[in-house]
Amino acid sequence: MIIACVALYDYIEEKSGEMACLAVHPDYRNLSRGEKLLKHITLQAKNLNLEKLFILTTRSTHWFLERGFFPVKVDMLTIKKQALYNYQRCSKILILNIN
Ligand SMILES: CC(C)(COP(=O)(O)OP(=O)(O)OC[C@H]1O[C@@H](n2cnc3c(N)ncnc32)[C@H](O)[C@@H]1OP(=O)(O)O)[C@@H](O)C(=O)NCCC(=O)NCCS
Repeated sequence: MIIACVALYDYIEEKSGEMACLAVHPDYRNLSRGEKLLKHITLQAKNLNLEKLFILTTRSTHWFLERGFFPVKVDMLTIKKQALYNYQRCSKILILNIN
């Protein structure tokens, strides 16, 4: 059974990466698995020489704020991602500087 997942989509030319699909199975939460996945993705992003990680979220904003992310506006997203941003979802955009 899959108990947690996360993905990294890199935008190498903009030295930026999206951390997407972070989720931990409800029975396995509050055991630092989210934290471990964040560390893992941060390491992968550093290995790709990315300078920042961004996430879009409609919930769990505080989980990210407590881990160094800060809120930004849509124009801080990569150009490709700006074109895909869904204004109806009203996701919060949060960025973490990793260098
Ligand atoms: C957000 C999520 C990934 C955290 O994973 P986790 O493995 O439970 O997190 P950790 O064990 O590393 O961290 C637990 C800490 O975060 C806090 N926390 C958990 N969910 C939180 C939330 N939604 N908002 C703020 N804090 C949260 C816990 O109270 C705990 O705090 P403590 O260390 O002071 O006791 C998990 O709750 C989840 O899958 N949520 C649903 C999907 C989601 O919202 N994904 C986010 C991007 S869309």
